[in-house]
Parts: sequence; structure tokens; C-alpha cells
Amino acid sequence: MDDVGQGRLLIVEDNRSLRESLREVFLADGFLVDEAADGQSALQLLDRLQYDVIITDIKMPNVGGIEVLRGAKAVNSSTVVIVMTGYGTVESAVEAMKLGAFDYLQKPFPLEELRLRVTKGLKVLSWERELTYLRGERNIIYEFDNFVGESPRIREVFRTLKKIARSNASILITGETGTGKELVAGAVHYSSPRAGGNFVKVNCAALHENLLESELFGHEKGAFTGADKQRVGRFEQAHRGSLFLDEIGDMALSTQAKLLRVLQGKEFERLGGNRTIKVDVRIISASNKDLAAAVAEREFREDLYYRLNVVTIRIPALRERREDIPLLADYFRKKFSGDLKKRVTAIAPAAINLLNRHHWPGNVRELENCIERAVLMCEGATIRPEDLLLGGEATGAGGAEETVFRLPPGGITLAEMERRLVIESLEMCDWVQKDAAGMLGISRRVMNYKVRQYGLSNPRWIKNR
Ligand SMILES: Nc1ncnc2c1ncn2[C@@H]1O[C@H](COP(=O)(O)OP(=O)(O)OP(=O)(O)O)[C@@H](O)[C@H]1O
Ligand SMILES: [Mg+2]
Repeated sequence: MDDVGQGRLLIVEDNRSLRESLREVFLADGFLVDEAADGQSALQLLDRLQYDVIITDIKMPNVGGIEVLRGAKAVNSSTVVIVMTGYGTVESAVEAMKLGAFDYLQKPFPLEELRLRVTKGLKVLSWERELTYLRGERNIIYEFDNFVGESPRIREVFRTLKKIARSNASILITGETGTGKELVAGAVHYSSPRAGGNFVKVNCAALHENLLESELFGHEKGAFTGADKQRVGRFEQAHRGSLFLDEIGDMALSTQAKLLRVLQGKEFERLGGNRTIKVDVRIISASNKDLAAAVAEREFREDLYYRLNVVTIRIPALRERREDIPLLADYFRKKFSGDLKKRVTAIAPAAINLLNRHHWPGNVRELENCIERAVLMCEGATIRPEDLLLGGEATGAGGAEETVFRLPPGGITLAEMERRLVIESLEMCDWVQKDAAGMLGISRRVMNYKVRQYGLSNPRWIKNR
């Protein structure tokens, strides 16, 4: 695994001896150092990697330091960029500062001076990160921008979201576990006129009946045994904002009745209190159960169902929108290579193939966990099939009934079975023999032998030659 110690640092400088002495200094300080001898290659690196610190010369042939700065800021606005200016490039220094450079140094300068500024820059960066986190993490999390997907079915969800976000209508979000219901609920709130108010979440499955009621409506001191303090309920906290009732299908019938009364009258009393409290709250609820079926079974009140369900958003399962798998996988790869500070720049085609075939019962959450693990496990810069640990279940595509290990009623010869497995593994790996061999646990040479034995060929092999 990469050990990034102090952080990831890029030196962009066309003068080789200066570049090398800078490298020595920062390597000794514990940075993971990359170098670029010109702006062009710096931009190429920036396409793939994120840096904590970039030290760049201003004046370089073709692509100059200003462009490197622009590129760096576009990738990650919090990267600390320090520019080095030569004689007569003071205007550029001013421009660089305007564009968001952290500092500049005029050549020649003592290396000690540069080290100090880098340290200072990193300190400011860590404060900034802390502040962003404290201030508005939720805003960052819930923007529509972070909702990845381009499949027709997800676009449909987007269209509905955009239409209803501005209204006050109650929304019911349904979908299997891990499909993104909470993410969508947040997106609805933060793109609504209520964005300035609170987005308050209550998990109806996590709390027992009485506790859930006091959670929702609050209680007065002494309302019940153990109520030693007054408590403001979630409804009050969500005033002028939105209340997200997660797992609403698990709410007890008696609580459902109380909730319905509040929704109808827009007012309620705290448990054990007699003061009527008026609230203005938009309800967003979610369930991974089929609520209509629960209504039919009399487990869920029909009148409440209609009140919650003015608009339904059904988020399709991941296997119903397989086009989004590679997009999401790449999104999570970037996210975790940033979070874990590991240089993982790609997912091998054979690995993508495996992802595309998996059944994903846990939907996007499962994919997210899978990629996080893969980023953690993978040894090079590319996620390989074996990093995904999806192994045996990978035949879930379309119909799991095609499981290759089932013996046909009329029997099959071992040789024929082997031939089919070889072909299937090649198909799964885009006909890359090395990867297919890996899937079958045989060497590349044995795979090549089998290919010739069974007379297999593929246009790709000819193209690549
Ligand atoms: N389209 C998407 N783009 C990016 N991230 C997503 C997307 N959909 C889901 N996620 C991520 O997947 C994880 C699971 O999503 P979320 O918690 O919203 O699912 P859920 O439907 O509420 O699941 P559960 O029913 O288990 O509560 C979260 O980390 C979320 O950020
Ligand atoms: Mg959820």
C-alpha cells in the first residue's frame, strides 16, 4: 500500500537540478512526491491524481504554471498550490494569487522558506477541511450532483425529483435496501424552498412504539416514568423544514393513528402536555417494504398511506439499471482513492465485467462497500477482478438459473464442461487470456494451450497483435 505520510506532493519544474533538490527535501520530510518536467505532464498527472500540495514553476515552455494552477483548482479547489516565479514574472504571481494559489516565492529562495510555506499551507488546509465538515457536510452529501446515474430509469427518477422538489407534496420513496432512498430524500429537501430549514431524520424501525412517539412529538417533564426532562420532538425540530420518516412500514398501528392526526391538523401536543403546537413540516417517507401490500394486509393504515403517498418515487434496484454499475463503480473508486489516499486510477475491464454480472442484492450500498474494499486491497493502481472478492456469485446476470455447475439431465463430458468454462471465462474477461486464466486458477500457458486445443479464436486477439 502507498504510504503517503505527510501527504501527496507534486513538483512541476523544468529545471532538472532544482526539481531534484526539491524532491530530496520533501521526500525527506515524509511526502509522497511526484515530479513533472513541464506543465503538460503535470496536467496529465492531475487527470488521474489528487494532490495535497503542488509546487509549480510559472514560466515553462508550452503549458505554464498558471494553467497547471487552473487545472489543479478545477480538480480540487482545496489543493495548496505554491508558485515559483523567476525574474520579471511578478505579474504572473499576482494573477496566480487571484486564481487561488496559496503563496508564491521568487527565485532564488532558500529551501527552508519553501518548506515553511508548505507546512503552513497544509495547516490551513486541515483547518479548512475541519470547517467544511462542521459547517455543511450535509449540504455536500445531498446535492443532486452526488447522485450518480445515467440509465433511463434513473433519469426518470431525476425528472420526477426535479418536478416535485419545489412543491410541498408529501413524498413516499420506495426501493430495495441500499438503492439510495435516504440520498434521494436529502436531495429533495436540499433542492426545495425548505433547504434553509432542518432536514430531520427519524428511523421508525429503530425505536419501540412509545419511544418513537416521544421522539416524534416530544414530551413534557414527568410525562412517563423516566421522562425527567422536557424533550422537543422531531416534528418541532423540522418546523419550516422536512421530516424524513425512514422505514415507515415498521411503524406500529397506534403510532400511525397519531401521525395521521398530526398530518391532518398540522398541530399536536407533546406527550404529557396540553399546549397545542403548530408546525409547518414537509413529510418525506421511505420504505423498503411494499406498503400497498401492507395496506391490503391491514398492517398499514390506508388513510395514512394516501396522505404520505401523494407522490411515489420508486428507485429501481441496481440490477434493473446495470448501465449505472460502471459509473457508480468509478465514482466510488475516485471517492475511496481520495479518502484512503491510495493511488488507484482504474478498474480493469475484467473486473468491470464481474461487477456487471453480479446480482447486487444490497444494491448501491453493496457496490460501494465492494469498491472500498477493493481500493483497500489492491496492490497496484488498477483494481483487478480478484480484488473485488465477488468470486463465485458472479453468474447472477440476468438469470441465475444459468449457473454453470448444474449437470444437464442428459449428462455432459468433462471435456465439454471444461470447454464451456474456458469460453465463459474468456467472455467474462473480454477475451483477455491472462484474466480468464486467473478466473479458472490456471496459468496463462495452460489457458493458451486450452484455447488452441479447443480451436477458440476471437477478433480481439488478431486486432491486438
Ligand atoms: N445514485 C447514487 N449515487 C451515488 N451514491 C449512491 C447512489 N445511490 C446510493 N448511493 C450510496 O449508497 C449508499 C446507500 O444509500 P442509502 O442509504 O440512501 O440507501 P437506502 O435506500 O436508504 O437503504 P436502506 O433501505 O438500507 O436504508 C449510501 O452511501 C449512498 O450515498
Ligand atoms: Mg435508508
